[in-house]
Amino acid sequence: MLSRNCGLGVAILAIVVILTTTMAAETHVSKQAFGHTADGAAVDLYALSDGKVEVRIMTYGGIIVSLRTPDRNGKLDDVVLGFDSVDQYIAKNTPYFGALVGRYGNRIAHGSFQLDGKTYSTPKNNGDNTLHGGIRGFDKVVWAGKQIADGVELTYVSKDGEEGFPGTLTATVRYTLKGSALRIEYSASTDKDTVLNLTNHSYFDLAGQGRGDILGHVVKIDAERMTPVDAGLIPTGELKAVAGTPFDFRRPHAVGERIDVNDEQLRLGGGYDHNFVLDHASGVLAEAAEVYEPSTGRVLQVLTDQPGVQLYTGNFLDGTITGKEGRVYQRRFGLCLETQHYPDSPNHPSFPTTELKPGEKFHSVTVFKFSAGSR
Ligand code: GLA
Repeated sequence: MLSRNCGLGVAILAIVVILTTTMAAETHVSKQAFGHTADGAAVDLYALSDGKVEVRIMTYGGIIVSLRTPDRNGKLDDVVLGFDSVDQYIAKNTPYFGALVGRYGNRIAHGSFQLDGKTYSTPKNNGDNTLHGGIRGFDKVVWAGKQIADGVELTYVSKDGEEGFPGTLTATVRYTLKGSALRIEYSASTDKDTVLNLTNHSYFDLAGQGRGDILGHVVKIDAERMTPVDAGLIPTGELKAVAGTPFDFRRPHAVGERIDVNDEQLRLGGGYDHNFVLDHASGVLAEAAEVYEPSTGRVLQVLTDQPGVQLYTGNFLDGTITGKEGRVYQRRFGLCLETQHYPDSPNHPSFPTTELKPGEKFHSVTVFKFSAGSR
């Protein structure tokens, strides 16, 4: 009798364990009003939680507003830079904190490119160049939001000629969270030949946002080559081997280990602000980079099917921005890994193409996967 009861107890316990694990694996998604833009458009905030990681994303700019992940002791902290309210994102001239960047992420030299024999001009908002889609890029528009399983789907229709780019472009970005992995799935279609380069511009500090610089973060990037730049941070066209340079992250290195060594490329970028040519085949989702923060044990793995990733070490942050929780963002307080095509590709026929034609569907996936532990 006793053994039969015992057996029943074990069976019930097993069911409870299975149920709680299944329940914990389910992602909870909720939506709330988050304010308005200057011209009165309503902005919503979607909160995603998979039981371990919590992400909040708003429809203005598709911005990741906060991202809370556990450290090695299970303590949650927000690991991305940003602001507490939509008003601040609009008023404070944010350097793309957490934003969806488009239609063309990174730079287009001299605000000009040719497509099908025609010359197109885009706004010069970064010296003589176009940066991150122009004056009003995808980071500064309100996307239409829709709740989906495990996340949110955002859609934006960019008009023909918007910021100088040809073709009406319908862009859809799905953010989903599952198993401590935030998946960003981009798709787009156009009604005229155009160019596009979509990315997310989150600034990570895995020790907790605004707590200090990211020089102690240990980075690995699976890239044998990078694209050197000129003084305007425009690629020269060369694919340069990283071996023997401070850009060799094939084995893990702390960001600060070589960032201030005497190197022309580091001087031009004021630190790391460069595109790495990923080793894996373009179009195949694979690990591209990994970041480890020793004091908290947090790990970020970046997977992508894009051919490149821009490592930007927050060199332009200068203490003039006060962000979430009243924290002041000093130089190098954030680290970005912007999965992308190479900068200025429309002016470099030898780079993987960023052209999209009517009838084609652009599709791309990037995953930010979080864990924690000791090394
Ligand atoms: C990208 C660029 C940087 C800088 C930041 C935003 O990472 O490559 O040069 O413009 O965005 O400040």
